[in-house]
Amino acid sequence: MQNRTNMTVHANEFMESHAKIPEIKFIKLFINGEFVDALSGKRFESIDPRTEEVIANIAEGDKEDIDLAVKAAREAFDLGPWPRLPGRERRRIMLKFADLIDENLEELAALDTIDAGKLYNMNKILDIPGAAETIRYFAGAADKIHGETLKMSRELQAYTLSEPVGVVGHIIPWNFPSTMFAMKVGPSLAAGCTVVVKPAEQTPLSALFYAHLAKRAGIPNGVLNVVTGYGHTAGAAITSHMDIDMVSFTGSTEVGRLVMQAAASSNLKPVSLELGGKSPFIVFDDVDVDKVADLALQGILFNKGEICVAGSRVFVQQGIYDKFIIKLAEKAKTWVVGDPFHPNVRQGPQVDKKQYEKILSYIDIGKKEGATLLYGGKPYDRKGYYIEPTIFVNVTDDMTIAKEEIFGPVMSVLKFKSVEEVIKRANGTKYGLAAGIMTDNLNTANTVSRSIRAGVVWINCYFAFDNDLPYGGYKMSGFGRDCGLESLHKYLQVKSVATPIYNSPWL
Ligand code: NAI
Ligand code: MG
Repeated sequence: MQNRTNMTVHANEFMESHAKIPEIKFIKLFINGEFVDALSGKRFESIDPRTEEVIANIAEGDKEDIDLAVKAAREAFDLGPWPRLPGRERRRIMLKFADLIDENLEELAALDTIDAGKLYNMNKILDIPGAAETIRYFAGAADKIHGETLKMSRELQAYTLSEPVGVVGHIIPWNFPSTMFAMKVGPSLAAGCTVVVKPAEQTPLSALFYAHLAKRAGIPNGVLNVVTGYGHTAGAAITSHMDIDMVSFTGSTEVGRLVMQAAASSNLKPVSLELGGKSPFIVFDDVDVDKVADLALQGILFNKGEICVAGSRVFVQQGIYDKFIIKLAEKAKTWVVGDPFHPNVRQGPQVDKKQYEKILSYIDIGKKEGATLLYGGKPYDRKGYYIEPTIFVNVTDDMTIAKEEIFGPVMSVLKFKSVEEVIKRANGTKYGLAAGIMTDNLNTANTVSRSIRAGVVWINCYFAFDNDLPYGGYKMSGFGRDCGLESLHKYLQVKSVATPIYNSPWL
């Protein structure tokens, strides 16, 4: 796939690659087990963020296509085998699906690279095998879904049944197209639901490939449908649909609010929202500065900062502040930006023009509001949406770059004195997705981790994800959890069944 070169890496030199673009096989909507054109016949362009060129014209689904997908999913749920199969059968088919993902690892990895500008090597070791593992994790749960026997206060026998919620609409973002697909589809299929997936318009390619693999694995027609298209059309049609029983959404807080409103004004479907973040990464005086500076940098530059749990507010205790920011700058210089197919590259292009411009405008605001630009801050003067790793220091809590989600390779460093102070400041945000705490002091770690209002707290690590680790937000970062058995349960509902123990005719 790649052309390996023996170039020496210099600070922020741009790394080229001459990788071959994979053939794009699936460009149509996947409804009821078939690839079909949009009813309108419309297509939209999928752009390669490395080159700004069109890589494919994808079927543009809209409301009427969503209607067809929902009809197929509804029938598959109400009448089809999937929810009625013994769990072990769903498990068997899902395990086959996971194996097929592994078998197509390189092609899937390349699709996410050309669609999202994600690192090819990272997709190969993390995103794609991770998606297969997520499907396996939930496959393993498919035959362990059960209710409880209840202890009644009268002569009644009662139990609960754990039943699938029905047809689920999944609206997913572009930053982790494969991970998100598996995190949403895995537990809902294991629960016995049928699904309509709308991938982000920036990254439709891998979802369509997954649909094809799902069919090959034996997932029955209508159970998994993928409708590509835009958010305000196809996405909105999902959220307001009267025949969709639940929506699981990951994306911006702004659209999360629309999703909830649409659910409220249609059939009151439950929603699960995983939204933005402005996560604190807190560094106490007692840490190994070299190691933690590395981790802090990863915390914001990984996936070019397009990750909702990015450690975008780095709070550094005053005793090590000066030393720490010197280390950050030194390390940022070794961070290689370039074509995401190149094996030495650590940061590819931002996903699209809109995101690229949004990030650059935040960098501008940071400078104007008086933060000190320690490193980077410029776009690369070339085709593609490449931006330098950027570090602002002497940032204060009131600055826009300390408050709003940038979703790019832009770190804000803030200085603090005491534990009490940093807890208050770390919590001083509308978001509550993640937090990092770096210290060897157990008391400090315990105190801070219990005081931070965030859905996931990492102590002396960051991005420590696991299929068994529930993941989601507090406050305006949303509610509902992906991963863990928690996420299986959100696609299940409880039915209580009661009957007299003796055949007595009383209520
Ligand atoms: P977005 O929230 O617009 O897009 C996410 C998904 O929602 C896409 O599939 C999109 O088509 C769909 N969508 C958009 N409008 C919709 C509507 N009215 N009804 C139903 N679905 C709709 O996010 P966007 O514009 O791509 O990115 C904007 C910002 O959102 C980013 O800069 C970042 O701050 C944040 N974001 C957060 C993510 C996370 O992982 N929590 C992922 C993506 C974006
Ligand atoms: Mg794209």
